[in-house]
Amino acid sequence: MLIIPGKATADHWIKTLHKIDPTLKIQVWPVVTNAEAVDFAMVWNYPPGELAKFPNLKCISSLGAGVDHILNDPHRPKNIPIVRIVDQKLICEMSQYVIWAVLNHVRQFDSYALSQARHLWTPHLPQPMQIGIMGLGQLGADVAVKLRDLGLNVASWSQTAKTLPDIRHYTGAAQLDDFLNNTDVLICLLPLTQQTHGILNLALFNRLRHGAYVINVARGAHLVDNDLITAIDSGQLSGACLDVFHAEPLAQNHPFWQHPKIKITPHIASVTHPEAVAAQVIENYHRVVNGQPPINQVDVNKGY
Ligand code: GLV
Repeated sequence: MLIIPGKATADHWIKTLHKIDPTLKIQVWPVVTNAEAVDFAMVWNYPPGELAKFPNLKCISSLGAGVDHILNDPHRPKNIPIVRIVDQKLICEMSQYVIWAVLNHVRQFDSYALSQARHLWTPHLPQPMQIGIMGLGQLGADVAVKLRDLGLNVASWSQTAKTLPDIRHYTGAAQLDDFLNNTDVLICLLPLTQQTHGILNLALFNRLRHGAYVINVARGAHLVDNDLITAIDSGQLSGACLDVFHAEPLAQNHPFWQHPKIKITPHIASVTHPEAVAAQVIENYHRVVNGQPPINQVDVNKGY
């Protein structure tokens, strides 16, 4: 087994994996002494081409929910399964973050912080707002249901038809305009694919309700950064909350840092905890070395 770490340190992963299976032989990139022995790779944002060095690799496992970093590697071994993490803790943490971002906007908590600084007593009545979630996979569906249960009006959009009680669903390109035209708070939880790259652009922002708010917790590459600033500065958008960026960490001179209507967090919305997912990684390891299909396998053609 090989670990190319990123989010958590390799030591933490090794300790957690060995607690469950002390017999696992683990090498940590870049110090790989036996490339032939590598049969299973756990990766996060690794340098493209690295995985082509392991002739006996049987499976590539993302250390997170997303697999775009693997699918974007043109030299990755093509005929082996790619798996991702599916985990209740990841799902819950994403919902916590999005609920915070939505409520902060809908209930105008930033304005109360400003009022407090000036000793002002300025109550506002919350305005009814339509929440729209793009992407209704496991993360999107949990966010949708929890926001609905808080009494908010929630709609969703995805490529394929889905149903959740009391959540209006829009499907595919044909219904995208209807979805956007009725949205005040747009949440992006789409997988990053060729079709969704740059989907958060000026043309899309202009189809939202005037003064809409954008929350991106998926991938930085969904967003055209300059278009976001243009749409906010024109008033078409009232602001944005971003957890993900084209390049992370965000460059020191990036205009998002300074923008008064853009809130940023350092890709912490939902982070893999080795303790929570080590068992599923090891299960997949044993499955593939025994010639069985792994769980949580990604459909490479769909990209998620
Ligand atoms: C985080 O961004 C993940 O894909 O798990």
